[in-house]
Amino acid sequence: MLTVFLASGCGDRIDVESPTVQEGQKETLTIGFSQVGSESDWRMASTTSVRSAFSEGSRYNLIYDDAQQKQENQIKAIRKFIDQDVDYILLDPITESGWDSALQEARDSGIPVIVCDRRVAVEDKDLYTAWIGSDFELEGKRACEWIRRFFEEKGYHEAVNIVHIQGTLGATAQIGRSAALEEAVRNNPKWRLLDQQTGEFTQARGREVMEDMLKRFGDRINLVFCENDNEAYGAIEAIRAAGMRPGTDIENGEIMIVSFDSTRKGLEYTLDGTIALNTECSPLYGPRLTELVDSLERGEKLPKDTFVEEGQFSTYSEVDSVQVDGKEYEVTPLTREVIDERAY
Ligand code: AHR
Repeated sequence: MLTVFLASGCGDRIDVESPTVQEGQKETLTIGFSQVGSESDWRMASTTSVRSAFSEGSRYNLIYDDAQQKQENQIKAIRKFIDQDVDYILLDPITESGWDSALQEARDSGIPVIVCDRRVAVEDKDLYTAWIGSDFELEGKRACEWIRRFFEEKGYHEAVNIVHIQGTLGATAQIGRSAALEEAVRNNPKWRLLDQQTGEFTQARGREVMEDMLKRFGDRINLVFCENDNEAYGAIEAIRAAGMRPGTDIENGEIMIVSFDSTRKGLEYTLDGTIALNTECSPLYGPRLTELVDSLERGEKLPKDTFVEEGQFSTYSEVDSVQVDGKEYEVTPLTREVIDERAY
């Protein structure tokens, strides 16, 4: 299996030249895109990126479908795209399981499917042409290693009580980030996982879950591991409403928050130290997907998996890099300029 890394982290920009139609190629390509929904700022940025890259007036005719967080809607959308005889199907799957039949139908109709962001778990990998997305478990491992190193650098060797707000259960982003935290808890005897609940990647649910955890565990909580920025916004609201403070001074009652995505708002909270660490997950799939479609149009074979490169941001300077599985990853010291460059 060939793996390709596309640089995008920390800069956010991918410049792709407008494709020129070559001999034997169609003038207009009809593309069906099944999007998960609009649960988070990250998701909205992903939708904007795909819609603008495949925008009207370009060579593509995009049929966009918002599944409103329901897999059954995504399956209906795939069947509708097949009926419409689209040239390509783009799928960002809400969860990993349950795709075999719909993807088999697409294959039987000869329509290539490109999966992006989250993965599909199918027996027959030939049911989709290619996948492009994040290494979610690596994101989680980088976050956990930063936490471990942060406490080490601070000389803090006491117990750390953790609550965990998970993403949509069964989504690749949840599976990978949760696996990384659970492994870190097993490897760090002082880390105690008090509770895990899904926040569905939304601010409203993140707040509800945090309120519930605060009611049950109160000031025993030292750290909240939020699986995306929107959950972190909800957790921050709940912590403040309970009269408590987000921050890294856990010895004096502050609750440390770590998050994923690194959206503009998430980075604002990271710049002022409300979020201690933000691990990037890039939503800019538009140009990446046009590039993959154009490669297929040129008759090129795509790598089965393409991983996107991502960064990590903190305003706390104690840890400037982390090592995961023998590889060193830089932690970018967060500044106003970094946020100003962020498009979403
Ligand atoms: O699959 C990517 C995840 O889904 C992002 O972390 C989250 O914000 C989104 O809703």
